[in-house]
Amino acid sequence: MLARSTTFSLDVLDAVPVRVEADVRPGLPGLTVVGLGDTAVREARERVQSAIANAGLRLPQRRMVVHLAPAWLRKRGSSFDLPIACALLAASGQLEPERLDGVGLAGELSLAGEVRPVAGLVAIAMAARDAGLTRLMVPLESAHEAARIEGLQLLPVATLSEAIAVLAGKRAAQAVPPPASAPNEPVADLADVRGQEDAVEALKVAAAGRHNLLLVGPPGTGKTMLARRLPGILPPLSAQASLEVTRIRSVTGSSNRIAHTDRPPFRAPHHTISPVGLVGGGVPPRAGELTLAHHGVLFLDEFGEFTRLTLEALRQPLEDRTVVLARGGRSTELPTDVQLVAAMNPCPCGRGGLACRCSDADIERYRKRISGPLLDRIDLLAPVLRPDPDDIHEPAPSSDAVAAMVAVARDRQLARQGCVNGALSDRELRVHGRIEPAATALLDQLYARGTLSMRAAHRVQRVARTIADLAGRERVDRAALAQALTMRQDLVSDELGEVAA
Ligand SMILES: Nc1ncnc2c1ncn2[C@@H]1O[C@H](COP(=O)(O)OP(=O)(O)OP(=O)(O)O)[C@@H](O)[C@H]1O
Ligand SMILES: [Mg+2]
Repeated sequence: MLARSTTFSLDVLDAVPVRVEADVRPGLPGLTVVGLGDTAVREARERVQSAIANAGLRLPQRRMVVHLAPAWLRKRGSSFDLPIACALLAASGQLEPERLDGVGLAGELSLAGEVRPVAGLVAIAMAARDAGLTRLMVPLESAHEAARIEGLQLLPVATLSEAIAVLAGKRAAQAVPPPASAPNEPVADLADVRGQEDAVEALKVAAAGRHNLLLVGPPGTGKTMLARRLPGILPPLSAQASLEVTRIRSVTGSSNRIAHTDRPPFRAPHHTISPVGLVGGGVPPRAGELTLAHHGVLFLDEFGEFTRLTLEALRQPLEDRTVVLARGGRSTELPTDVQLVAAMNPCPCGRGGLACRCSDADIERYRKRISGPLLDRIDLLAPVLRPDPDDIHEPAPSSDAVAAMVAVARDRQLARQGCVNGALSDRELRVHGRIEPAATALLDQLYARGTLSMRAAHRVQRVARTIADLAGRERVDRAALAQALTMRQDLVSDELGEVAA
């Protein structure tokens, strides 16, 4: 007899519907699974047979064939166990086949017949809704992931025998339990930082306007420390953004248990990462760190140590906030709307300035990695110098205090222009910037002197707009602009300075 169930395969960030067809007929006992499955799918054979036997159900002593359609789609993941088992049980007369109509199933099975959590439930629930299904059977333990998707009745189950009883209408599904883990892990507080008043101010401005930020300074001055405290002062994600972030984490994460969170993601890949690891791609295609940091922060520590190729690969996704992966005739678009925070030493030895022991050639090679067009995407260049001996006991304000200021400034931007200042185009900046003539005159002077290029001028204006928003001022005055100018004064070197200008 033939029976069908519906499930989903994960494909980069999406879930794609897959039809499971099970055929049980006389012949040599055994189970064959066909239809381009990965190792986990092929191993479903063993898990499904043990789970059926150990759940107190009858394992048909017949020839069993399972086909996963469409055949051309590469299937991956362990979520096929439950739909395969249910289709086999229906095909062997232990469940009426029509009980599987209109319901999607996803779940891994243990050998004992328990239904285990699977990756990508948010995406699976979205795909189920989009495919017109009304009910989705999911592992009890991770059901809360799917619960945010509306218009879908969830059927959380803990065991295979329970799944069959629920499908047969003999018992009701369990209620969706709350997530077990706390959604937000604690972030270290800004108040730990001593004597970096200017750098903390730059971090605050970067957070408020969602500006890309480069921290430059000698070793051990607190660059990494500052960057890692950024998530603690950023505003929480909107409901929509939080859902997107959870969906990305749920599809790409190694963990099968994802809690919804409204904290922006913070990703800090090591500098040995490849361009593909950063941007995405490969076979099978995967999302890169840029997509994992979508709506959040991509922190590139030791910025000068990344290969030039890796850094160049950043440019287009930073610009377009999306990247398109071409793969065997199809293309997949991945979101990459990140705030870039980078930290580096002024030169390979790290000391910079007069104490530097690097050769000119070393310095040249180090700085060449960070090209003009990449620097062009960075609004703020903040020096993080050795603090004055008088200041080393001076704590920075607490993260909560700074977060409150950032939130107010962010609300002003969104109310005025519907986006953050860091995302304003040059044209939008002219409309929404509201820069006073006296301030513009200051820029004109600098431009006339040749110290400032047009694109640097725009960057300064965007940052000045954020400084005015933090101060609660409608217009950008000369003082705000002057402060913005100090925040792009880079102490990296003349050369970097020239490129940046
Ligand atoms: N401004 C500071 N306030 C308090 N502690 C600091 C400060 N700067 C450095 N430290 C201490 O030094 C340690 C190293 O700082 P951090 O890793 O941030 O330096 P860094 O600037 O990133 O250096 P590197 O260039 O070597 O990466 C911190 O964990 C902290 O204990
Ligand atoms: Mg560091």
